[in-house]
Amino acid sequence: MRNLLKTGLTLALLLAASGAAQADDQAIAEKLATNHCAVCHTFKQGEPHGQGPNLFGLIGRKAASAPGFTYSDGFRQAMAEKTWDNQLLDAWLTDTQTVAPGNAMTYFQDDPTKRARIIQYVQSLH
Ligand code: HEC
Repeated sequence: MRNLLKTGLTLALLLAASGAAQADDQAIAEKLATNHCAVCHTFKQGEPHGQGPNLFGLIGRKAASAPGFTYSDGFRQAMAEKTWDNQLLDAWLTDTQTVAPGNAMTYFQDDPTKRARIIQYVQSLH
């Protein structure tokens, strides 16, 4: 009985710790995205576009489809028919000019861990 109680307590503590780790992870992701993207992008639903389009609900949305944002010709041509998923976003953040030559967002992130964190944050915008 005592042992059972102990096991239960340990489990509860472990669960609490992993919950806290997840919250930390999300905070790190949010900070990275804010530092790297918020100069040009807004994240919350209904916020006005910046130099780049609002990113709320990006994953699963058709590329170049944010209402009221004027995309560059290069972006519209390269991205027609594409839908944002994690893989496309990863390629985009690695080198925007390879994905859509002549687009208006200059950004390169060669650290896969940073990209994964930024994607994690963008994914949470729903
Ligand atoms: C210096 C400004 C700037 C920064 C910094 C920037 N972007 Fe952009 N972003 C743009 C512009 C401008 C466009 C529109 C591109 C075009 O029309 O050619 C864009 C477009 C996008 C799109 C396409 C959205 C759609 O509606 O299809 C995504 C996704 C995106 N940015 C994600 C990000 C993320 C994530 C970051 C941070 C890692 C980031 N951007 C950093 C300026 C920026």
